[in-house]
Amino acid sequence: MAIRIILRVPDERLRQESEPVTRFDAALRLAIDDLEETRQSGPAAVGIAAPQIGWFQRVVIVDVSTKKGVANHGHLILINPEIEHWEGYDIGREGCLSVPDYTGNVIRATRIRLSAQDPQGAPLAFEMEGFEARAVQHELDHLDGLLFIDRVVSRRTDLFQRKVYAARPGAAGGKPT
Ligand code: NI
Repeated sequence: MAIRIILRVPDERLRQESEPVTRFDAALRLAIDDLEETRQSGPAAVGIAAPQIGWFQRVVIVDVSTKKGVANHGHLILINPEIEHWEGYDIGREGCLSVPDYTGNVIRATRIRLSAQDPQGAPLAFEMEGFEARAVQHELDHLDGLLFIDRVVSRRTDLFQRKVYAARPGAAGGKPT
């Protein structure tokens, strides 16, 4: 396993669309291990997407179980995830390992139905709500080359500069994902 370099804005590779995973092999599982190790190496990230480490396949990891009082499905490795259904909307603060200097207010669906595959290729399905649904929507955006800064209504009023980041994980509002 290895900690990989996290791409940061304005790196154009973050704008690339990722390819579906077609081979559920040992190489996939090794790359997932790197993605997870990289997620855990920095500030308390509740999620990470493969393109953030320069791996352009449709793989994300989400784990909001560390956030108190939040409905969740635990640690999730999602391959080829697709949102099948959206419901409601809410505004909430987000951060991102690839946008280390800012958090932002972003509108997301409050409930989603998600399909995906596990690292062996078996089908998965989830109903999610609240913060977990938000984290998943944020990570899936990465697979399409989108960042939360693209979704703030106004960069002037909805983006917030972080005062501290690595020194005090999670202290500055939105959890990085
Ligand atoms: Ni992110």
